[in-house]
Amino acid sequence: MHSATLQPPAGAAGELTGLLLMRAYHASRGEHRHKVIIPDSAHGTNPASVTLGGYQTVTVPSDARGLVDLDALEARLDDDVAGIMLTNPNTLGLFEEDIAKIAAAVHRVGGLLYYDGANLNAILGVTRPGDMGFDIVHMNLHKTFAVPHGGGGPGAGPVAVSARLAPFLPGPVPARREDGTFAWEMPARSIGRVHTWHGNALALARAWSYILANGGDGLRRVAEGAVLNANWLRHRLRGTYDLPYDRPNMHEFVASTTSLKKANGLRALDVGKRLLEEGFHAPTVYFPLIVDEALMIEPTETESPETVAALADALIAIAHDEPGVGASAPRTTPVGRVDEARAARTLLPTWDAVAALDQSAS
Ligand SMILES: Cc1ncc(COP(=O)(O)O)c(C=O)c1O
Repeated sequence: MHSATLQPPAGAAGELTGLLLMRAYHASRGEHRHKVIIPDSAHGTNPASVTLGGYQTVTVPSDARGLVDLDALEARLDDDVAGIMLTNPNTLGLFEEDIAKIAAAVHRVGGLLYYDGANLNAILGVTRPGDMGFDIVHMNLHKTFAVPHGGGGPGAGPVAVSARLAPFLPGPVPARREDGTFAWEMPARSIGRVHTWHGNALALARAWSYILANGGDGLRRVAEGAVLNANWLRHRLRGTYDLPYDRPNMHEFVASTTSLKKANGLRALDVGKRLLEEGFHAPTVYFPLIVDEALMIEPTETESPETVAALADALIAIAHDEPGVGASAPRTTPVGRVDEARAARTLLPTWDAVAALDQSAS
């Protein structure tokens, strides 16, 4: 990419920044487009950011391969489309094989391509969003370069852009002067600040350390390790769990308990809770939305073959549990199965949850 801002403090903040850049770019050309296209496999933050950015979401379905349906995309393209947001590899862990065709089609109607970088760890050192035709890219540094998915903690979602979008970046950005010195400068047509200071500095420093510690070759091995772990695990689960898209995947894949639910009542949520009993962090469940009883498993490059094998053994053992065991998990954690619908609807933001619950009950 041509230039970047380090300011956005998370992936979702990067998305909003990217959409504001899209809007500023089109406005500078006297165009006021209204629609942004998003695949039905996208993360929920994508349509949320589109709405916050003042655009209307247009959903494009996935085809039988789990990739963007090209005919459906063509049918949605017109000069009211500001752009498309894509995660590549997508949330099914599949690389958009037609990305060059998608980029050409969207650019043909004057739209821009936004790259959701949540899955960037799959392609490090192998290919680059700019080469695929993307105009705007956010990187979830807290995922790709430091903290495995699910680790939580402070984030950083820098946004990088192609040359034509550079004048609109948030500022100030560091600029090298002719005499070789650096200074902070506001890009000519900046959308303004999106965060204080220059972003979440400590999260940036941690990601930078991870990059330096791995080096160029090491970063490619990060991608290779993540992809190998995920493919190995998918093979181990074949025959036990449903694999709706059972083809070579990137750093993650999606399994399902649809058949197990019919056979013995085991739901994706039960698998997640049972894994806690077995000492594993639960995978993302019920996402992406296009897969019934979805388990989105992303082992990452940091797990050893022994750990991934132990996870496979645990998942297979859970599938063979007596009926009802999954529904009563977790039984070994300080807090058992919570009523998640009630937790979401009756939010009690307090340090003393027990007292607050007693009070709300009385
Ligand atoms: C595909 C995808 N896009 C966007 C996001 C949002 O990133 P963040 O949590 O850093 O805001 C996530 C987070 O899990 C994601 O998986």
